[in-house]
Amino acid sequence: MCGIVGYAGHRQALDVVLDGLRRLEYRGYDSAGVALPDGVGGLVVERAAGALTNLEKRITEADEARFTGDSGMGHTRWATHGAPTDRNAHPHRDATGKVAVVHNGIIENFAALRGELEGRGVEMASDTDTESAAHLVAAAYADGPAAGDLSAAVRAVASRLEGAFTLLVTHADEPGTVVAARRSSPLVVGVGDGEHFLASDVAAFIEHTRDAVELGQDQVVTITRDGYRVTDFAGADVEVKPFTVDWDLSAAEKGGHDYFMLKEIEEQPEALRNTLRGHFARGGVVLDELRLAEQDLRDIDKVFVVACGTAYHSGLLAKYAIEHWCRIPVEVELASEFRYRDPVLGRDTLVVAISQSGETADTLEAVRHARTQHARVLAICNTNGAQIPRESDAVLYTHAGPEIGVAATKTFLAQIAANYLVGLALAQARGTKYSDEVAREFDELAAMPEAVRDTLSTVEQVRELGTEMATSKAVLFLGRHVGYPVALEGALKLKELAYMHAEGFAAGELKHGPIALIEQDLPVVVVMPSPTGRAQLHAKMVSNIREIQARGARTIVIAERGDEEVRPFADELITIPAVPTLLQPLVSTVPLQVMAAEIARARGYDVDKPRNLAKSVTVE
Ligand code: F6R
Repeated sequence: MCGIVGYAGHRQALDVVLDGLRRLEYRGYDSAGVALPDGVGGLVVERAAGALTNLEKRITEADEARFTGDSGMGHTRWATHGAPTDRNAHPHRDATGKVAVVHNGIIENFAALRGELEGRGVEMASDTDTESAAHLVAAAYADGPAAGDLSAAVRAVASRLEGAFTLLVTHADEPGTVVAARRSSPLVVGVGDGEHFLASDVAAFIEHTRDAVELGQDQVVTITRDGYRVTDFAGADVEVKPFTVDWDLSAAEKGGHDYFMLKEIEEQPEALRNTLRGHFARGGVVLDELRLAEQDLRDIDKVFVVACGTAYHSGLLAKYAIEHWCRIPVEVELASEFRYRDPVLGRDTLVVAISQSGETADTLEAVRHARTQHARVLAICNTNGAQIPRESDAVLYTHAGPEIGVAATKTFLAQIAANYLVGLALAQARGTKYSDEVAREFDELAAMPEAVRDTLSTVEQVRELGTEMATSKAVLFLGRHVGYPVALEGALKLKELAYMHAEGFAAGELKHGPIALIEQDLPVVVVMPSPTGRAQLHAKMVSNIREIQARGARTIVIAERGDEEVRPFADELITIPAVPTLLQPLVSTVPLQVMAAEIARARGYDVDKPRNLAKSVTVE
C-alpha cells in the first residue's frame, strides 16, 4: 500500500523517481506526487489526485524545467486517512515549505500529534496522518539536539511515531540527501555507482542496479550520491544485509501483452518451476526452510493455515493435500479473524502464514499472535525480506518473480505448489507416505508446469468468451472437493476485476439455497472433477449441471479433455489436461483468471489496477 521512491545521484532525479513510481503504481493509484530540493533553498513539489499520468501532465504544464535536482522523492498513494484528493496527496510539507515527507503505512498516534501541533498554532493543510511528521521534522531540524541535521531530526521524530511507517524526508537546505525511517513497512536501499535509491520494492530501481540492502525494524537510512548510512532510532550504526536481486527489468515489463495480468498468467509454468526448484534431492523432498528437526516435525499435531483473499484460497487447497497425505488436522482461517477468536495453539502447532507480498497486516498480526502462543510459524511468501517472513520462524519463498497486476495469479499457483511441498515434507518426516510415494507425488507436481503451459492453449477461447460475458449482471461458480476453492477463486477474481457480482459455491450446497439464484441465461461456471479420478463426484456434478441447465442457466464447463459425459450439458466447454486430482486446481484456475481479466477489459476497466484495491494491504 502506497509506493515510495527516493533518489540521490548523478541523474535527473525527476526521471528516476517517475520511472520508479510507474513500477510501483500497483501499490496504490489514488494520487501521486514528487518533491525535489531546487538547490537554492527551496523545494519543488507537484501532486495530483488519480493516476500517475495526472501528475506527469501537471509537471509538464507547470514547467518541467523547474524539476532539475539530482535528488528527490515521490509517492503513489493508496488512501487510508483522508480522501484521495489533491489536498491529501503526498508529499506533505511543513508550514515553511522546507521539509517534505512521503509515507507508506499508518501513524496510529497521529491524532495526538496533530493536537499537539495545532496547540502550537500549526495549521494543517491536509487530513492525513502523514502531515504531522513533516511539521515535527521541521521543528526538530530548526531547534534542539537535532538542529541542522536531517538524519538526526528524522530519528527524533520516528521514535515518537506509533504504528507502521516508512517515511522519506527531504529538506530544502540539504539538497542531495534523502532520509528514510522504517517500522513494519517495506523499504529497500538500491546501491548504485555514484547513486543510491530508496523504494518500497526493488522494481522501482532494478533498471539501475540489482545491488540492494534490506532495512531492519526501527532503522533510519540516509542516502546521498556517495553512500548510505543506516542507524537505529537512537543513532547507533547498524549492520545491514546486502542482497542481489535475482530478476531483471524485463520481468517487470509487460513484454508485449495487453496488460500485466495476462503476462503473469502466461508466466505461471515458469513460476511453478521456480517454486519447486531445488526441493527434491536424494530421493526425497528437501525443505530445509522448515528449520525443524525430524522429531519436531513428527510432533506436530495440528496445522493452521492463515491467509487472506487469494492466498486463503491456496490455503484451502493445502487442507485437502495435507490432511490426505499426513493425517494431521488442518484448519484454514482468514487471517483477519484468527487472533480475535482465541484459537487453541501450542508448541506442536504449525502455523503456515501464506502471503504473496509478505506485508498483509491481517496475516502479520496472525503471525504475531501465533508466536505469542508459542506455535511455530512458517511463512510462504513471494517477497524477499518482507515483514511476515522476518517475523516468522521459517520461510519458504515461492520465487514466482514480481507480480505487478494487482490481482494475484502466478503467485496463487506458486502458493499451491509451496503448500504441497510442505505437505509432502511433513508426510515424509512422519512416515505417512513411503519414500517412493513421496517421489511419485513430487514427480507429478514437477510435471505441472507443462500441464499449465498446455492449459494456456485455452486463452484465446476464454478471451472471446469473456468478451461475450461482459454484459452479464452476475456469474456463479461451482466446484466440489478441490474444485470448490477454485470456484471461490474464480468468483473473487471476477469481483475484484470486473466489479461484477460473483459467488463461488460448493456444488453440493446449491440445493440448500443458492439454486434460487438461477434464472434464464445466468452464466454458471462449473469446475468438473475428473471422470476417472473422482467418478462418484463427477456423476454428482453432472446432475448439478443438469439441474441448473433445466432452470435456464448458461453452463460454462471446465472439464478434463475427453470428458464426453459432460459435453451435452455444457453450453460452453473449456477443456484442460487430465492431471491427478489434488493438482487439478493448478490447471482449472487458469481459464478463470483469463475470464475475469477479459470481462474486465471488455467492460473498459483497468485490468492491472482495479478500483479501491492495492497489491499489498498493510492496514487491518
Ligand atoms: C486477489 C488478491 C488478494 C490477495 C490478498 C492477500 O487477487 O490478490 O486477495 O491475495 O490481499 O495478499 P497477500 O498474499 O500479499 O497476503
